[in-house]
Amino acid sequence: DMAEKGGYDHFMLKEIHEEPSAVRDTLTEWDEVLGVVEEIGEVERICFVACGTSYHASLVGKYLFEGLLGIPTDVILASEFRYSAGALNDRTLAIFISQSGETADTLNALRAANSRAKTLAIVNVLGSSATREAQHVLYTRAGPEIGVAATKTYVSQLTVIYMLVAAMGAPELMDRLGRVPEFMERALKDEDGIRELAATCSDVSDFFFIGRGFAYPTALEGALKLKEITYIHGEGYAAGELKHGPLALIDNGVPVVAISPPGPCHDKTLSNVEEVRARGARVIGVGSISDESLRKEADDFIGLDPEVDDVISPLVYIVPLQLLSYHVSVERGLDPDKPKNLAKCVTVE
Ligand code: G6P
Repeated sequence: DMAEKGGYDHFMLKEIHEEPSAVRDTLTEWDEVLGVVEEIGEVERICFVACGTSYHASLVGKYLFEGLLGIPTDVILASEFRYSAGALNDRTLAIFISQSGETADTLNALRAANSRAKTLAIVNVLGSSATREAQHVLYTRAGPEIGVAATKTYVSQLTVIYMLVAAMGAPELMDRLGRVPEFMERALKDEDGIRELAATCSDVSDFFFIGRGFAYPTALEGALKLKEITYIHGEGYAAGELKHGPLALIDNGVPVVAISPPGPCHDKTLSNVEEVRARGARVIGVGSISDESLRKEADDFIGLDPEVDDVISPLVYIVPLQLLSYHVSVERGLDPDKPKNLAKCVTVE
């Protein structure tokens, strides 16, 4: 068992440490991505469909396709697809993201979309149902993922989405993607600090994660990881929505993880940090290591490479958040690999 885990205590921790190589291996798919983009031809609209962590990867896709290419993009939860199918037609590309390629809701939506739009599945498991049913397929090269909570497959899904955007009109992304594994490795080196931080917040009942723009999906995914493996209530929120509800729940000592990479949203997020701080929140800042303004506002600070800007941040900023949830889970005496009530693959509707 220990051998299978490569010397790590849990599969989840091993899989987080495999993220740099999962991204590197996925980046070798460039020719496949170019081939699929050529086959697909003209696209006027994108519609992502997915569940869980794959849904959060899809949300990053919306910011990329709309922000970098100006292509209108919908993101639909697979279980809601039949009630709200977006605008499908022969110039719409419907992208189905699934680690397993077997999630029932995602497969049902794929079947329904096949006759109405171009369909592309982005999948980790070779030969899975989604790969047989979609018109086009791209693989993430994460290798098998055993931990129920998705980690290395999430960053691999993001990598394929960024490559797709690069191939469809933003080639400058590729240079920056090439440096992501190195940025991740640097983030992984700070694990001791995160373990210490986890020890100080393992007995709280609520956690908030806030971010704007590209950091918003990271806030949602950070909160999902926490819920899944620690059973602490974690809520991800767009920083600007705080005052429309969650601010009422902020009290002395409530941890608020503020995700604020360098970029156009930075200062706005900082004012949200000031708002929660004024109400007694314990701010855990996640930003550039040279971000003195965030560091000053934060009780705890997780610093990442200053060259990681907001656009590329979803790939790198999630790493310390996964580690944080992992160490809080262990601190609480739980098994992060096997969260109660959850399955790796949900084959029922
Ligand atoms: C389950 C898993 C999650 C995963 C989701 C979607 O809930 O526990 O980790 O994100 O299904 O799975 P898929 O295989 O379609 O990506």
